[in-house]
Amino acid sequence: MPCSKNWKKPMSTLEVRTPGHTYSIRIEKGLMSDLGRFLGPFNHGQKWVVFTHPGLYEQFGSEILTALEDSGFDIAFITMPEGEASKTIANVNRIYDQLLKQNCNRSTTFIAFGGGVVGDVTGFVASTFMRGVGYFQVPTTLLSMVDASVGGKTSVNLASGKNLVGTFYQPLGVLIDPDFLRTLPVREIVSGMAEILKCGAIRDKTFFRKTVKNLTHLIALMDQAPLIETIEAACAIKARIVSEDEKESGLRRILNFGHTIGHGIETALSKTGFRHGEAVAYGMLAAGYLSHRYGKLSSAEWNELREALWQLPLPALGRIDPDKVLAHIRHDKKYSHKQLNFVLLEELGRADISADISHAHIIEALNYLTRSIHKET
Ligand code: GLY
Repeated sequence: MPCSKNWKKPMSTLEVRTPGHTYSIRIEKGLMSDLGRFLGPFNHGQKWVVFTHPGLYEQFGSEILTALEDSGFDIAFITMPEGEASKTIANVNRIYDQLLKQNCNRSTTFIAFGGGVVGDVTGFVASTFMRGVGYFQVPTTLLSMVDASVGGKTSVNLASGKNLVGTFYQPLGVLIDPDFLRTLPVREIVSGMAEILKCGAIRDKTFFRKTVKNLTHLIALMDQAPLIETIEAACAIKARIVSEDEKESGLRRILNFGHTIGHGIETALSKTGFRHGEAVAYGMLAAGYLSHRYGKLSSAEWNELREALWQLPLPALGRIDPDKVLAHIRHDKKYSHKQLNFVLLEELGRADISADISHAHIIEALNYLTRSIHKET
């Protein structure tokens, strides 16, 4: 069942407008082979540093080097190990040393070439090195295309939790080439799709329903045009939210739907290789359950959300220790004035922040997850 009818041509540019800086998100198939042309207007003879991990460096390093050197760029690479283990202050210190050894200065420009970890670390280093240098996001995973690369959140982890140190620091631009998706394992696509469903669930019911209708095709990467339009729609939702509330003092908090319990699950199960989006999908199930039980989400829309999320081929959750999840939640940035700001859905496409969700409610939602896993998988 081809689903390419009525989808737009695979290229678009969106804008993120924050008080300090406006920048574009360019989405275009094959964009990587023309990187020199897109970045050319920003090249004034300064040094450029591409941050990536060794696997991507091996696969694309020489292609990037040739493309940019042929366009007159002065390029260096810095690699960091793949995965969350790189999101540490120790790794950031190592990177500062390498930047100094390579004579980088305030005019140096960075390119974050990779998934969310590379993007978060590069952004953090960009925001602090020499009090701030410019950087571009070139995301290579679906998750980072629709979430981490847009909006300027940069971070590293501490032993007690994820993303506890960071800055808001917008990139000079985001360049998305959907061709990278073909290099990803299906679990990475599913992980990104969970964040895409989140965008629809919190802000756009029509987009949510359209994505759910095409979920199987989208996950199988069967047709590029719908996939690109889906990425564009998710980025547009995020771009509008960030443009309205860059520093998460209000509206932007709704992007955390599924993330309070999701981050708790991700941290509790970090040794099992659970991916961020997979944990967020379970987090959305838990938050959807609470939205129905203690908020305004109707039975019909709760069923719709639940069925959509169960369509994702998620790894089994196994036994979750509620104490571990709660220990993480206690350090969550979503606490303010001793209150947990928990995102509930009022309806599909409309989210709000509740201060009424307690630890007892979270345990109840975790129990719901444990019960329903045996019923629904
Ligand atoms: N990932 C949530 C945000 O960027 O606000």
